[in-house]
Amino acid sequence: MESSAIQEFYKGRSVLITGATGFCGKSLLEKLLRSCPDIGNIFVLMRPKKGQDVEKRLAKLFSDPVFDTVKRCLKLPLEHKVFPVPGDITQTGLGISVQNKDQLCREVSVVFHAAATIKFNENLRVALQTNVMGTQEVVELCKQMPLIMALVYVSTAYSQCPLTEIEEKVYPPPHDPKRLSECVDWLSEKDFHSIEPTPAILVKAHSLFLSRKCSTTNTKPFQALLSGSHNFDKIYIFHQLPKLRTTK
Ligand SMILES: NC(=O)c1ccc[n+]([C@@H]2O[C@H](COP(=O)([O-])OP(=O)(O)OC[C@H]3O[C@@H](n4cnc5c(N)ncnc54)[C@H](OP(=O)(O)O)[C@@H]3O)[C@@H](O)[C@H]2O)c1
Repeated sequence: MESSAIQEFYKGRSVLITGATGFCGKSLLEKLLRSCPDIGNIFVLMRPKKGQDVEKRLAKLFSDPVFDTVKRCLKLPLEHKVFPVPGDITQTGLGISVQNKDQLCREVSVVFHAAATIKFNENLRVALQTNVMGTQEVVELCKQMPLIMALVYVSTAYSQCPLTEIEEKVYPPPHDPKRLSECVDWLSEKDFHSIEPTPAILVKAHSLFLSRKCSTTNTKPFQALLSGSHNFDKIYIFHQLPKLRTTK
């Protein structure tokens, strides 16, 4: 069968993915392996976690049933195509060793940046270090890659959920990102804590987001929304509340 333009593009081309253990990154990794079997090397930036080094984490990732099809179809074991790169996007230079950085700069021409913290109520310092400064570090790395063709940044930062109409453009941020990043250097942990998102800010953002989907103004679900670390489940529950009430 004739290969598509996308398959042709990726033929022999090496890519770097951040966030490959996450929801979006894992789907992307599987799709690239399944649909572009002639892709070059796939480097995945990973941090050691819960006592597991990156090799263990990669093996665990591949044990996910989502990779069953590619394991059957690919001629090579996945470990011959996908290589873990120890790193942490909150670190200077993404915490990548000089040797690994040299290899990435020599080989990689497409970078997918999908690593992020997606907690709505994340500690502000961690959120800035991960989502703002981590992304800046990825951009800096890309600038040092002579073969770079594309940096694909996967982020909800583009979604602008409080707006009713979203144009395909980059909206100005509410605060100067450079000045926010500077806060990481000089604000104490205590002061950071005091400017973490307040319930009022969260309710404002989410009520706009949710009001388009359901009509209730009951504030109780917002209280549930504000506790806990991952809020998507609570948004979903809140979203479903009107339906639940009318279900006999
Ligand atoms: N999920 C969606 O439906 C959706 C939709 C649109 C856009 N997005 C955007 O897509 C991006 C990824 O979302 P997701 O749902 O895939 O999130 P996720 O499942 O929480 O995955 C986050 C990924 O980032 C990695 N990561 C976090 N901090 C890191 C650090 N300091 N160093 C290295 N890696 C780090 C995590 O690695 P560990 O395994 O080490 O924690 C994980 O691989 C976000 O920007 C999100 O806003 C998501």
